[in-house]
Amino acid sequence: MQDYGLWAVVTGTTDGIKKALVFELASKGLNLGLIGWNPSKIEATLSELRDRCGATTEVHHIVKTVVADLAKLSGEEIVAAIAGATEGIDVGLLVNNAGMGCPPEYFHEVDRQLTESILRVNVNAAVWVTKGVIDGMLKRKRGAILNMGSGSAMDISSFPLLTLYASTKAFLATFSKSISLEYEGQGIDIQCQAPFFIATKMTKMKSRYLFIPSAEIFSRASVRWIGYDRVCNPYWSHSVQAFVARTLDTITVWGLECYAKWLRAQERSRR
Ligand SMILES: NC(=O)c1ccc[n+]([C@@H]2O[C@H](COP(=O)([O-])OP(=O)(O)OC[C@H]3O[C@@H](n4cnc5c(N)ncnc54)[C@H](OP(=O)(O)O)[C@@H]3O)[C@@H](O)[C@H]2O)c1
Repeated sequence: MQDYGLWAVVTGTTDGIKKALVFELASKGLNLGLIGWNPSKIEATLSELRDRCGATTEVHHIVKTVVADLAKLSGEEIVAAIAGATEGIDVGLLVNNAGMGCPPEYFHEVDRQLTESILRVNVNAAVWVTKGVIDGMLKRKRGAILNMGSGSAMDISSFPLLTLYASTKAFLATFSKSISLEYEGQGIDIQCQAPFFIATKMTKMKSRYLFIPSAEIFSRASVRWIGYDRVCNPYWSHSVQAFVARTLDTITVWGLECYAKWLRAQERSRR
C-alpha cells in the first residue's frame, strides 16, 4: 500500500465503512488525512486511533484532520480545503467514501434539502476532492483513488424508490472508469468498488456473516482490492449477489417495481 505514497486521504471518516477503513489503512502504516464534517466525531475517531495505533496529531504528525461539510462547500472551497491540508505531503491514496443514502421514496417526495445534500456529498465532493489531489499524483506518477460506489447502480439496471442514491453511484462508476482510462500508464490506479449491503448506520442492518458483512470485514477486503480492476466487488459474497442480481435483473427490477406500487397503495389507503 505504501508504494502509492505515505499518505491516505479519506472522506467521511467518522462512522461505518470509513471508520473501519481508517483503522485498516493505519494498520498498513499509512499516514492519514481525515475529512469529516463533525469535529467531535473526528476527535472521537482520532482518540480511538491513538488508543489502537498510537497515532497522534501532536507528536508524530501522522494524522491530519479537515473539518468540511461536504454537503455545504462549493467545489472550489473543497479544493482549497484539500490544498491547505495536503500542502507538502505526498497523497498516495484517496478514498472517496463519504456518502448519503435516503429512505425509499418516490423521487418527487424526496425532501429538497436532502436532494441537494445527496448530490453534493455523493457526486460533487468526490469530483472536487479528486481534483484536489490528482495533480500531485500526476506529478509523482503514482497514486490510487478509490470511489465507493454501490451494487445498486452497477448490478441492477434501475432502482425505483432509491433513484437519487443509485444514480449518484452510477455517476461514480462512470467517472472512475473514464478517468482510469485517461490516466492509464501514468502510475495512478483508479477504482470504483460496488458493494451490496454492509452493516452500517446507513443500512441500519445487523451483520449476517454470509450476506451482510460488518464494516470491519468489508474494509479488510476493500483495502486488499485497491489497485485491481476498474470496478469491483471486494467482498466475496457481494460478488455472488452481484452475479445473481445481474442474471435475474428483469425479475429484480420487477420486484422493486412491485414494491414501489405496494408502497404507493399503502400511502393512498392511509389518506
Ligand atoms: N452500507 C452499505 O450497505 C453500503 C453499500 C454500498 C455502498 N455504500 C457506500 O459506502 C460509503 C460509506 O457508507 P456507510 O455505510 O459507511 O454509511 P455511513 O455509516 O452513513 O457513513 C457515511 C460517511 O459519510 C460521511 N458524511 C455524510 N455526510 C457528510 C458530509 N456532509 N460531509 C462530510 N462527510 C459526510 C459520514 O460522516 P458522519 O458519520 O460524520 O455523518 C460517514 O462517515 C457511502 O458512500 C455509501 O454510499 C454503503
